[in-house]
Amino acid sequence: MKRKILSVLLCVSMMAALTVGCGNGNKTDDSAASGNADTQDQADAPAADGAEDAPAEDSTAGDAAEGTAGDAAGGSSSGEKLVVGFAQIGQESGWRDGETMSIQTYAEEHSDTIELLYADGQQKQENQIKAIKNFIEQGVDVIGVAPVVETGWDQVFAEAQDAGIPIILLDRTADVDESLYATFIGSDMVEEGKNAADEMAKLLNSSGKIVELEGTVGASAAVGRKQGFDEQLAAAYPDIEILESQTGDFTRSLGKEVMESFLKTYDNIDGLFAHNDDMALGAIEAIKEAGLKPGEDIKIVSCDGVKGIFEAMVAGEANCTVECNPLLGPQLFEAAQKLKDGEEVEKWIKSNESVYTADQAEAELPNRVY
Ligand code: AHR
Repeated sequence: MKRKILSVLLCVSMMAALTVGCGNGNKTDDSAASGNADTQDQADAPAADGAEDAPAEDSTAGDAAEGTAGDAAGGSSSGEKLVVGFAQIGQESGWRDGETMSIQTYAEEHSDTIELLYADGQQKQENQIKAIKNFIEQGVDVIGVAPVVETGWDQVFAEAQDAGIPIILLDRTADVDESLYATFIGSDMVEEGKNAADEMAKLLNSSGKIVELEGTVGASAAVGRKQGFDEQLAAAYPDIEILESQTGDFTRSLGKEVMESFLKTYDNIDGLFAHNDDMALGAIEAIKEAGLKPGEDIKIVSCDGVKGIFEAMVAGEANCTVECNPLLGPQLFEAAQKLKDGEEVEKWIKSNESVYTADQAEAELPNRVY
């Protein structure tokens, strides 16, 4: 019974992998970034979710919970395999797809030693929480989560801790006591914001009026990047003024929409800082439709380093991307294995990243893997 249930879950994660794989490659196109379309697709494919249809809560739940809890408590359904449940945010950006691909590819390539249970939260915290509860029910070895927002995790992380399952935070932090998670693997978002401010200042000779597209409200990536950007402007570039700052939820479609409204309100925008490349790519469309030249009339700095922004830089339509590395799969599973083996892991496993400007884009483009 136990093996049967985990097999079902593996099918679920395979289906999710396929769904994500099909959407990969470029949330830089609008259909992919449109929250509505993605949400509908996912809602129509309940098995791929893993959160909405958490076995512990639906009508077949009793069976699933009964069958798997004891199984994983003994290690996993497949002997010594490392069983990791990963609660992903969703598919809001090309960067996110890159991260999902890195995790799923690593698990597939190490399928003799790793089982991955994957859940797509469709950008909703409640779905991620359900997925984590489900993983606890299944008795996985380690739970990974990219928290969509910073707050609201205390209770479910405490439940994992009570069940003896370590939590790994991936790419976004959570506002919880440090004792509730084992490690955070990811970037220094404040530093990224500071780097973005430095690059914007170079482009504007330290003076000008800009607009800002923020990421998801309450997400550590948005909070940190804004903090770093604002602090650096205040400390070093007092003549750069932010005319307006609004969320574009890290999606291309909202990035375009919000930029359209900025362009209607202001006729003096010198620069745009977008918290991710997907929003910048949406904004580029809006700027062109408004009859202006992105990258020239309005200088553009964004974060992530997805292929699409390198293509835009090669075309002269964007100026700089502050890299944020999504290829965290290997580090996730290495840390998970250590935790399963009872070894120590660093509290913050930091990513190595660069800053790329338009003059480097052509040479770098062939090297981009996300
Ligand atoms: O948490 C990392 C951020 O999440 C990326 O910058 C963004 O593209 C993604 O949605």
